[in-house]
Amino acid sequence: MREVNKVGIIGAGMMGAEIALCFVMSGYEVAMKDATLELAQKGKDRLEGVLDKAIQKGRFQAEDKDSTLFRITPTDQYEVFKDMDLMVEAVFEDLDTKREVFAQLDSICKPDCVFATNTSSIPITLLATYVKSERVGQFLGAHFFSPASVMKLVEVIPGLETEEGTVTFMMDCCCKIGKNPIRVKDVTGFAVNRLLHIMWIEANRLVEEGVATPEDIDTACKLGLGHPIGPYALMDLTSNDLNLSVQQILYETYGERFRPRPILKQKVNANHLGRKTGRGWFEYGK
Ligand SMILES: NC(=O)c1ccc[n+]([C@@H]2O[C@H](COP(=O)([O-])OP(=O)(O)OC[C@H]3O[C@@H](n4cnc5c(N)ncnc54)[C@H](O)[C@@H]3O)[C@@H](O)[C@H]2O)c1
Repeated sequence: MREVNKVGIIGAGMMGAEIALCFVMSGYEVAMKDATLELAQKGKDRLEGVLDKAIQKGRFQAEDKDSTLFRITPTDQYEVFKDMDLMVEAVFEDLDTKREVFAQLDSICKPDCVFATNTSSIPITLLATYVKSERVGQFLGAHFFSPASVMKLVEVIPGLETEEGTVTFMMDCCCKIGKNPIRVKDVTGFAVNRLLHIMWIEANRLVEEGVATPEDIDTACKLGLGHPIGPYALMDLTSNDLNLSVQQILYETYGERFRPRPILKQKVNANHLGRKTGRGWFEYGK
């Protein structure tokens, strides 16, 4: 089986930077590109705080911090990716942006480099059409969860033409960085978002019907179901505008069972988006 040695990440935002961290924490060297060098550096700088938290929680050794971060090279150039074995794409969830990134990578990366996209909602089979036909077999989805340096799960999603060897390669990469990959078909929402949003929609029905409050539903899920965080605290973390747009995509694909509830639309209209606006289902102050 092919070995992974060199890894490139495109996008140094919330997901890209943390995915880079997963690789360097396991000893890999990573080049991480954003639209500008400043943004790439900013993405790397944010990881200091992430590692400090991990140190506080006893999940990481303080003396390894500098050498770990040193293994991330921020860049604004595609050239550095020419001899990478794996590229992970985590740019905006926007077709044109992803198309441009994959066209650039396809013209620079070596022929056997695997391309993995972290998209949450775009079909992998569609994104695979953005590379030349010779590379389609080496294109797949690798859906990490936020915060990626903490969450163990990765959904590995082959597209229609992904070769079996590429799936094995990606599953193996995930294991090498301490993740637990599961193989999932290329369907809208993959597996986890389907499970998550069906629960959130039902939770919103309970609130609309006055059956229970958001606080009590969070308590129910934590103490009755063993969830580490309640659905309303999690919705406020992921933000209600994103939650609504994901439910709209799921609704378009699967119909009535994913129709977003009016109470969620109202929250978005009121700009109660969650932690990022200081108020969502709960209040967070300034
Ligand atoms: N946020 C989540 O919880 C989550 C979870 C799983 C998957 N995802 C997916 O991961 C991807 C990234 O999401 P995010 O939350 O990290 O977004 P983000 O907005 O935090 O980061 C995206 C980054 O991409 C950069 N970028 C844009 N165009 C670029 C280009 N041409 N070249 C290089 N960098 C470019 C932006 O400057 C930004 O830093 C999306 O596809 C999203 O659907 C997000």
